[in-house]
Amino acid sequence: MSSPSVSHILDSIAAAGTAHRNGEAGSRETLIDLGLQLVSSLEIPSEFIQRTMWAEPARSAHCRLALDRQIFQHLRDAGDAGISAVSLAEKTGLDVPLLQRVLRHLVAMYMVSYTDGKFHATALSNGLAKENYQQSIAFCYDVSRPSFNNLPEYLKQTGYKNPLNPTDGAFQAAHKSKLPFFDWLVANPPHLSEFDSFMSAYRAGKANWYDPNFYPVAERLIGAFDPSNSDVLLVDVGGGRGHDLLEYSARHPSSPGRLILQDREPVIASVQGKENMPFEAMAHDFYTPQPIKAARAYLLHSILHDWDDNDGVLLNEIVLSEEHPTLAATSMDMMMLAHLGVRERTEADWRAILARAGLKVVYIYSYPGVEESLIEAELE
Ligand SMILES: C[S@@+](CC[C@H](N)C(=O)[O-])C[C@H]1O[C@@H](n2cnc3c(N)ncnc32)[C@H](O)[C@@H]1O
Repeated sequence: MSSPSVSHILDSIAAAGTAHRNGEAGSRETLIDLGLQLVSSLEIPSEFIQRTMWAEPARSAHCRLALDRQIFQHLRDAGDAGISAVSLAEKTGLDVPLLQRVLRHLVAMYMVSYTDGKFHATALSNGLAKENYQQSIAFCYDVSRPSFNNLPEYLKQTGYKNPLNPTDGAFQAAHKSKLPFFDWLVANPPHLSEFDSFMSAYRAGKANWYDPNFYPVAERLIGAFDPSNSDVLLVDVGGGRGHDLLEYSARHPSSPGRLILQDREPVIASVQGKENMPFEAMAHDFYTPQPIKAARAYLLHSILHDWDDNDGVLLNEIVLSEEHPTLAATSMDMMMLAHLGVRERTEADWRAILARAGLKVVYIYSYPGVEESLIEAELE
């Protein structure tokens, strides 16, 4: 067995704790990772089964229930005073004993606290009360979970082949459909809207490539912008509802040039007509030729497809480490496995796929604790 000893993990936690107190980037994520490592080292199989197979599914179900009955919002609104089971039951319509059992489980998992006969919100439950996380819970519970539940049976039926078919995967088997994932979202409201919220939420709170000390925006993007070439600075291809461009322009208010958001028509329709957007929204299918030529850069954030006719390409993607794959990276790979028949890639995979598209990697920028790197590439 090559796993580190408990005492070694505890030493690492102490060191990461010091880094965290000093505000070092990535130290919070390191502590979480070490916490998982500690649990895995200490836990015996019976505890593992209890946690993974009962406690976690029950907690997910309770989060879904909390969304239906606005439980996290009521806890938040109760403030420091907290709220009794009877009052919360009145507001949410749950039986008092049922509510107590549900919340006790969340207390046991440190998501809610209980003192002096009152339930209290935590920073985590307050965060989850926000709309984009509520929508994310709905998407993950109603759309993703059935795909994962169905994965072993699907793989058995398909002879344990790496799934590659975008219209016949675990997702389609679970949802009894032959539609590709993105078409299914459009055909099944409100899941498209939930998915778009999920995309804006699932990495919120982490550094973005346009934040300080990540990618040299001033030098590589803005400094190299030549309006005589094209007045478009950046095209966000498959940019959803534009959360990246919104944040980008908030961080770089004097950034020159036009910003263009592209996505499928139903997604673009949900942002068109909104006032004061710092970008132009354009319906565009990225399987068809790019209509905006010679922009300074094309951003592909969590998008993976062939590309042509461009100045620079900024791929904001997970670069999977073979030696130390992180939970965030492998979780996303599992999402890809169960929903889209595609995968996350290692650095060697990225270099190979870009070379096939006639692009060479200029540099790969990364930030501590942030899963997605910024791969800058240009035509060879
Ligand atoms: C994984 S999401 C990434 C969204 C955003 N770039 C981000 O990273 O948060 C993929 C996006 O690609 C869009 N998309 C899927 N197929 C597309 C197509 N054929 N043409 C344009 N956009 C597409 C989806 O609507 C979705 O917004």
